[in-house]
Amino acid sequence: MRKAGMRWAMKPQTKSGEKIRVATLQERKSRGQKIVMVTAYDYPTGRLADEAGVDVILVGDSLGNTVLGFENTIPVTLEQMIHHTAAVRRGAKRALLVGDMPFMTYKVTAEQGLRNAARFVQEGDAEAVKIEGGREVSATVRRIVEAGIPVMGHVGLTPQSVHAQSGYRVQGRGREEAQRLRDDAKALEDAGCFAVVLECLPWDLAREVTESLTVPTIGIGSGAECDGQVLVLCDLIGLSFGEPARFVKQYGQVGEMIRQAVAAFREEVRSGAYPDRGHAYEERSTET
Ligand code: KIV
Repeated sequence: MRKAGMRWAMKPQTKSGEKIRVATLQERKSRGQKIVMVTAYDYPTGRLADEAGVDVILVGDSLGNTVLGFENTIPVTLEQMIHHTAAVRRGAKRALLVGDMPFMTYKVTAEQGLRNAARFVQEGDAEAVKIEGGREVSATVRRIVEAGIPVMGHVGLTPQSVHAQSGYRVQGRGREEAQRLRDDAKALEDAGCFAVVLECLPWDLAREVTESLTVPTIGIGSGAECDGQVLVLCDLIGLSFGEPARFVKQYGQVGEMIRQAVAAFREEVRSGAYPDRGHAYEERSTET
């Protein structure tokens, strides 16, 4: 007899094709092949994203807004991120798994960053970590990379700095700000990042940065000229609330499907239509 939810617990089927590693992303950039990254937060989303054949799964600290119901990413803790990273890992086998280091878990000292990055790899089974920031985090990036943990950078709109950036706004519009972003991206590459996320940059600045770096850029709200694209899973499948950002394209309406399915269940329970005989076990034998 199958237990409820048992189909989920069966071994993940990896989509045919090679395991994606850090080096694969560099090859993609050299060949002009786009990199596909999505976020995931738990076993089913990790597994479904992996089976859909994405290259990189980021356990983003967007967990805070999308899954935990916080206003922003600032309350998300290291323990929560590691817990969710380990769950995603149980579902995702082929994609490169990146854990997002949450607020203030790497900005105090480089040693703090290294110690916490190590927890993502050891306890969460991530293959890399992501860090927000530019030149100010380059010493930390270098320390983590030298210790053998690959680091993905993240510049532009950095949600952990929502207060310092005065909200969620396009970055790099002015001349000085654009130069600062170019310098930050270069500093991350020099410090050893294997890829850099560019969030909410004008597309022409994102193109410039992409052309100037040897490592791949992964854009979100930064136009088509980046080496790859990332979207927050809940945005792309239509499982988020409120008005989506301009750059978000919804490829599904999962939220509405859930609402309709649960409402149909409610109606059938109330009317007695569920469970019918086909969804019940046979009556007991009267033989002794
Ligand atoms: O936390 C997150 O989901 C992210 C992506 C938007 C890049 O950092």
